[in-house]
Amino acid sequence: MNRQDYLDRTQEQMPLARWEHTLRVVETAAILARRFDVDKEKVDTAAILHDFCKFWTAEELIFAIKQYKLPQDLLLYNQELWHGPVASVVATKELGIQDQDIKNAIFYHTTGKPNMGLVEKVVFLADYIEPARKMPGVEAVRLLAQNSLDEAIVLSLKQTIQFLISCGQRVYPLTYDTLRDLAKHENDI
Ligand SMILES: [Fe+2]
Ligand SMILES: [Fe+2]
Repeated sequence: MNRQDYLDRTQEQMPLARWEHTLRVVETAAILARRFDVDKEKVDTAAILHDFCKFWTAEELIFAIKQYKLPQDLLLYNQELWHGPVASVVATKELGIQDQDIKNAIFYHTTGKPNMGLVEKVVFLADYIEPARKMPGVEAVRLLAQNSLDEAIVLSLKQTIQFLISCGQRVYPLTYDTLRDLAKHENDI
């Protein structure tokens, strides 16, 4: 499969609005990859595929989480967290993605994880700051992303956690772990 196959297969999976989001993430991720000297091809492939399963039904995602033996505790948390891990496995099984950096970037693009690699960080951040994102505080994250992937991700995580708490939603533990991991260097939690 080549890049055009990944684009075509992804576009088939989703409505126009999410497809346009995907293209903005691809563009934003390319800018970040250039800025921070990260592997462009891996970033490109992961960004194209990151939301591959975003529009699968809850039943399909639950079935996949069980069948592929993904972390079962995902099922205790918001459905929003399910599509990344499932897409990572689907990308391997259906699209032949073998590269661990790409798989991780897809898997963890919603939660983050401790010790994220550069490809993971770029895709995570691009998904948060792509130009159509309007959530409060996103502009401050875009500014930090001019100079530091880690500082930008730390702020995005804090804002996500605050948002989830304000909505009365539970925060997936891995998201706290990611914040602790990245913030430990800057005394910043
Ligand atoms: Fe997503
Ligand atoms: Fe996304």
